[in-house]
Amino acid sequence: MRILGIETSCDETGVALYDSEHGLLGHELYSQVDLHGEYGGVVPELASRDHVRKLLPLINVLLDDCQLQKSDIDGVAFTNGPGLVGALMVGACAGRALAFSLGVPAIGVHHMEGHLLAPMLEENPPQFPFIALLVSGGHTQLVRVDAIGQYALLGESLDDAAGEAFDKAAKMLDLDYPGGPQIARYALKGVAGRFTFPRPMVDRPGLDFSFSGLKTFTLNTVADQAQKNTEQSGLPDEQTCADIAHAFQEAVVDTLVIKCRRALEQEGLSRLVIAGGVSANQRLRERLESALHKINSSVFYARHEFCTDNGAMIAYAGCQRLLANQVEDLGVKVKARWPLNELSSLSYNDNKSGENNG
Ligand code: KG4
Ligand code: ZN
Repeated sequence: MRILGIETSCDETGVALYDSEHGLLGHELYSQVDLHGEYGGVVPELASRDHVRKLLPLINVLLDDCQLQKSDIDGVAFTNGPGLVGALMVGACAGRALAFSLGVPAIGVHHMEGHLLAPMLEENPPQFPFIALLVSGGHTQLVRVDAIGQYALLGESLDDAAGEAFDKAAKMLDLDYPGGPQIARYALKGVAGRFTFPRPMVDRPGLDFSFSGLKTFTLNTVADQAQKNTEQSGLPDEQTCADIAHAFQEAVVDTLVIKCRRALEQEGLSRLVIAGGVSANQRLRERLESALHKINSSVFYARHEFCTDNGAMIAYAGCQRLLANQVEDLGVKVKARWPLNELSSLSYNDNKSGENNG
């Protein structure tokens, strides 16, 4: 069974074809980073319009690359939340219409479930149960995953998401959007130990996060150091900026590592999945690998291009839901907000349609 996956929840147009027997057949991605770069963040209306321009041509490129026709598609999966409503509508309307015209099922996919399952596309996928750390631009959550659709939220950010904190810190240092990869690159040049940033909420019990205090600390440090710069650029000198980026990244990574260990210990599990844009962070991967090795646990993540938004994760998640007959009715429904634990688990003898209530 071949499933077309469509991702348009934010600023990437992603499409992919996943075969339930042969795995991923191909994927294409068009990033809107250049479009939004000059505004320093995603402009929702521009995002929607660009998805309209890019989506159908990208599906054609994908089919050509896979040497397949539209008639070879057995189901169309699309992200229908959470995300920017206008952007979601583009993928959901196109996906629903395409499925209708081909006479195949349409499957609405939860964007974060897509992220969470992305490591399943790799050679050594994790077995259930595991803990998932979902770290993207909009989410920072620790979830216990017992099976697809069986999600228990263990903790989450009370304010900014980890990716959002990276993006805001980058802005303070006048780095380009999106800030996560820029901070990571800059941090490589930073000197360890020159600045020590707070590790928010690690002294308190529980698995929640908070990154807003760290953001204020970063802002104050940048302002303080900028005053000392004789060049009067409004910023600290180049090396100091790199040192701040380094200290900031260490603080976020340390906080995430501490909470992941705590979640594994609390739940008595030994497998951790990290997913979402921030899981592309090399320092986070290294630190988790060494911390988890010490407690006989392992960390799983997707290849770099499937950590950030992509169509492959949507095609994979959609395929799993279709195999359990969880398909959409003819309506197009998208959700800006959608808690992960509202998803139903997979029941393979369930033949009713429309139960995915996307
Ligand atoms: O999952 P994603 O592509 O989109 C959302 O669903 O939000 O995540 C995007 C976020 C952005 O905040 C971006 O700065 C962050 O992931 N990010 C990173 C890295 N690559 C992307 N953060 C830290 N280090 C990275 N290497
Ligand atoms: Zn995402």
